[in-house]
Amino acid sequence: MSAIPLRLLPDNSTIGTDDSLSIGGVRVAELAAQYGTPLFVYDEEHLRARCRAAVNAFGAGNVVYATKAFICGAMARLAHEEGLLLDVATGGELHTVLHAGVPASSCVLHGNNKSLDELRMAIAAGIDHIVVDSFDEIDRIEKLHADGLPLVRVQLRITPGVHVHTHEFVSTGQDDSKFGFNLNNGDAHKAIARAQSSAALDLIGIHCHIGSNVFAVENFAEASKVMVDLFSTLNLPGLTLGGGLGVAYTENEEAPTIEQWAEVLQRATQSLPAGSKVSVEPGRSIVASAGVTVYTVGTVKPIDGIRTYISVDGGMSDNPRPVLYGSGYEVCDPARMSADRTDSARIVGKHCESGDILVDSAAVAPNVSVGDLLVMPVTGAYGYSMASNYNKVMRPAVVFVSDGESRLVVRRETYDDLVRLDL
Ligand code: LLP
Repeated sequence: MSAIPLRLLPDNSTIGTDDSLSIGGVRVAELAAQYGTPLFVYDEEHLRARCRAAVNAFGAGNVVYATKAFICGAMARLAHEEGLLLDVATGGELHTVLHAGVPASSCVLHGNNKSLDELRMAIAAGIDHIVVDSFDEIDRIEKLHADGLPLVRVQLRITPGVHVHTHEFVSTGQDDSKFGFNLNNGDAHKAIARAQSSAALDLIGIHCHIGSNVFAVENFAEASKVMVDLFSTLNLPGLTLGGGLGVAYTENEEAPTIEQWAEVLQRATQSLPAGSKVSVEPGRSIVASAGVTVYTVGTVKPIDGIRTYISVDGGMSDNPRPVLYGSGYEVCDPARMSADRTDSARIVGKHCESGDILVDSAAVAPNVSVGDLLVMPVTGAYGYSMASNYNKVMRPAVVFVSDGESRLVVRRETYDDLVRLDL
């Protein structure tokens, strides 16, 4: 295989005359030396560019960043500064963004099983609106209203009965789903009628999210059509068409851009009355390719006639996606960016199980050695946010780089962090 294509790397990646990789004007080797590995590195200008692309395409106030993809104080503030609202799906995500200084009035609460406490917290804080997912949740909001909390603006999450081409675990728009009110069995209409007649709810719109890492724009067109047909009968101000836009993780994948996605949604919604507010909720497409993980190679084990195992200092605890969804990734050596990747190896982590695989069969530059750095691109979404402490491995640090400067935005965990909950 040839060298890794630059399009998989963050926008502001450059290769120096010494063949080394820099991101945001900072050499990756320098970042590894300064902050240690494993390390998540985000190109801040790339993050901002994707936020701006979404706001340009859909309009200010119509883009809600799905914080589950990647959130910390710095990311919350960045998305807020760029004019995005923030989708929080738990009390923990809400707490994180409020703690970062983002007002609740810029947040939208999601979740298929919001607790009474989470709902109370969101309404009391002044959330912009709640996307209601079930009849039980309506009961809870009505109880809170009876207890004295104010009327709250809501959208209803509708399950449009659409199948998408993605992994079963991240497909959410089909009838057989834990999410939302099914359109095909009449629940959606019952929920709409109930919300419209409830003194506790101010129904401002309907919502759907058909799945994640979707590459086929026809899937968005199909779901949008179902939602537009329903929306047209309702006389409501807002329609949210979810997130879900896929990104390319490997050399042979190609994903639509935010602009191409917007075009499809605009075409699907062009018949709506002027003044209808059409919103989206991208997560992955904002952050995935802005981030890379930097690892250090710890062991190289060739097994004649079988394969070579390259073990790095992280693994399924900082990126469970290969294990969960069989997701593919590529790697490159940040010291040899133009070298052809002529060797093949299985990139594995340091966890105590054979399934701890990061890349099943990776193309690597020849003779990878102990102590080399490996960069895995496109780990900016659902990597850090799904990280765990399995085997009491400490979660990595996160740095933002921009204009030749790096700043630590999440520090590396310490051994003390690992025992802080023990009594
Ligand atoms: N809106 C709702 C209601 C969602 O549930 C999600 C993602 C999004 C927006 C953002 O979707 P995105 O634009 O990021 O595709 N852990 C999985 C992905 C789970 C997605 C969950 N919901 C993965 O690593 O692929």
